Amino acid sequence: MGKEIVDVELHKEELQSYFNGIGFQRWSAIYGQKEVSSIRKTVRDGHAQMMAQAESWLMSHNLPKGATILDAGCGTGLFSIAIAKRGFNVTAIDIAAQMVEQAKVDAKREGVADRINFNVGDLESISGSFDAVVCFDVLIHYPAKGFKQMCSKMAKMSKGPFIFTYAPYNSMLAFKMWIGEFFPKNDRRMNLQMMKDDTVNESLRMGGKKLNQQAKIHHGFYHAALIEAIPTR
Ligand SMILES: C[S@@+](CC[C@H](N)C(=O)[O-])C[C@H]1O[C@@H](n2cnc3c(N)ncnc32)[C@H](O)[C@@H]1O
Repeated sequence: MGKEIVDVELHKEELQSYFNGIGFQRWSAIYGQKEVSSIRKTVRDGHAQMMAQAESWLMSHNLPKGATILDAGCGTGLFSIAIAKRGFNVTAIDIAAQMVEQAKVDAKREGVADRINFNVGDLESISGSFDAVVCFDVLIHYPAKGFKQMCSKMAKMSKGPFIFTYAPYNSMLAFKMWIGEFFPKNDRRMNLQMMKDDTVNESLRMGGKKLNQQAKIHHGFYHAALIEAIPTR
């Protein structure tokens, strides 16, 4: 038990230092506009596809202007900025200060800084209730042991949709990652935490939500399961 807690804390420290260091360089390049390697370009394009789908699902709920949206693990703020432009009030939080700094600069440049409340913090530190919660490409880094608890907590925090991604469990992908062939050396990232669909569905049930729609996005080196969950009642 004690060891588990230490391991989770250690995992978090590793994440924070990765996303404030080499992870920031990698991901901010992928999320940016400058030229990147062909591998990273497939990740950029796959991520853009995922975000476009998520934004269209979010907009289909006809939430009023000023609705509150939590973007958990906002990274460089791509989604936060896009939905702030739609008139929503966004709470954007990320464990890596460098990511949040970049997001603030970009939000200012895009003229929506006044509609985004930026915070540096981990998923555990988030509380409150929102009209919608989104969490993209973050739970894939979350310790598998704590996944159910965290996923259900975020589901509960949304009065409406909860839209998020996870890495679907796939034994061949797991095998490739184990032997280290998934990414060429320079493009490798932190280990992915793969989840079984049943675990995700159980987490949603615990959070008072049910699966409404899903899309599996596979584009080059970008692989994600995008889920929209809605309140059970
Ligand atoms: C791959 S990026 C995705 C960023 C953004 N959601 C997007 O899709 O553009 C993952 C982000 O999650 C953040 N992150 C990872 N684990 C976290 C945690 N436990 N609490 C808060 N943020 C976390 C990282 O710092 C990083 O910015």
